[in-house]
Amino acid sequence: MRNIIQGDLAYNWHPCSQMKDFESFPPLVIKSAKGAYIALEDGRTLLDAISSWWCKSLGHGHPLLKRAIVDQLDAFEHVFFGHTTHEKIVQLSQKLAGLTAHLNRVFYACDGSSAVEIALKMSLHAHQIEGKTKRTQLMGLENAYHGETALTMSVSDLGVYRKPYEAILQGYPVLKGIPYVANQQDSLWSDCSAIWPAIEAQLAVHQETLSAIIVEPIVQGAAGMRIYAQDFLKRLRVWTQQNGVHLIADEIMTGCYRTGPALASEHAKIEADFVCLGKGLTGGFLPLSAVLTSSAIYALFYDDYEAGKSFLHSHTHSGNALSVSVALAAMEVMEHLSKAGQFKALEKNLSQSFQDLAAEVQCLVQVRNIGGIAAATLVNPNQISRLGRRVAMAGVEVGVLLRPIGNELYWLPPLNLLPDEVIDLQNKTRQALQRASYI
Ligand SMILES: Cc1ncc(COP(=O)(O)O)c(C=O)c1O
Repeated sequence: MRNIIQGDLAYNWHPCSQMKDFESFPPLVIKSAKGAYIALEDGRTLLDAISSWWCKSLGHGHPLLKRAIVDQLDAFEHVFFGHTTHEKIVQLSQKLAGLTAHLNRVFYACDGSSAVEIALKMSLHAHQIEGKTKRTQLMGLENAYHGETALTMSVSDLGVYRKPYEAILQGYPVLKGIPYVANQQDSLWSDCSAIWPAIEAQLAVHQETLSAIIVEPIVQGAAGMRIYAQDFLKRLRVWTQQNGVHLIADEIMTGCYRTGPALASEHAKIEADFVCLGKGLTGGFLPLSAVLTSSAIYALFYDDYEAGKSFLHSHTHSGNALSVSVALAAMEVMEHLSKAGQFKALEKNLSQSFQDLAAEVQCLVQVRNIGGIAAATLVNPNQISRLGRRVAMAGVEVGVLLRPIGNELYWLPPLNLLPDEVIDLQNKTRQALQRASYI
């Protein structure tokens, strides 16, 4: 095991990490993973409270998802999707088209950032084709996160990711004053008329030049699981429709039932012009992302090749057959669980357990929840440096994989977590907080 860690530190550069941190907290060596639990080489077991960066929606090693990959592997693993097709990708696209009333065209990529980049490019390109040449601006929300490519960082607002690259990023406008809520019972959730004039005033400045506004519908994950009012999203959708501006719903984290319904946009009963899906789309088994859009937008690009309207964006693994097959199986399993009431039951159970824990430990404030997400801010009266990291390290010692974002502690476990496992999650989180010598 020591060899593996030494080898890792000699050769690897881990994502979203300061590598010097590994001196005090070496990488965890994984042996196997099943359901919500990860087994380490040293014999310890960890409950995966963050669904391995928000993608393992059905836990690890789900037998139906494994089966789908093996079956596809027996037929073929990948043939370029530029000029070929196959049964599974048609079935998956039909299923994704069924998520909304109007978004019946699907474009595939490999990761969330690429899907967002594609939606932004499609919006800009569509306006260009329509001759609306002034519509070259994009707008994101304050605290937004949409990915790691230059264009997706340009519509993101989290300085920690953007700062080193500011010089090459576009200075797009940022919509401020978002009405954040604790949960769906908050009065702002269904009525944010009081704050709307201030939002409208900001929008009005860019009315003529915006191509698209991009949002993470209802929950801003990387900002620390900030939840905002569905009424805000509803009003924003009306404004975009009235002003000829596209709305892009980045559902990379919120989609595929994470907030309860298949899409978080459903909380506001809206349909965006573009929906981006990723992460949980394959149950986190293989990389795959998708952009859904309408036949009206698709039709703008449809012409003789010489007209120069083709959307020539390409990825080698667009529509990878193994990814597509496991995505189809994952969507079927999630649809079934949704109908069986599992996600509603989990929401109730998670929120109650998290609230009970917060009431008991007295160090968690601004408790919030929706669907398969519960979160709170760690109070830090003594200004402990990197408190979230300290809690994460303590979590590993007691058997739970937590990864607070700054001081925002959250649960985002597999959506098929069982009631006993929720109790385990609560117990281990309590122990982690205690062990961090914090409460
Ligand atoms: C809302 C949102 N958009 C885009 C991304 C980027 O996805 P990926 O890491 O697959 O590129 C993320 C990743 O966390 C995300 O949360």
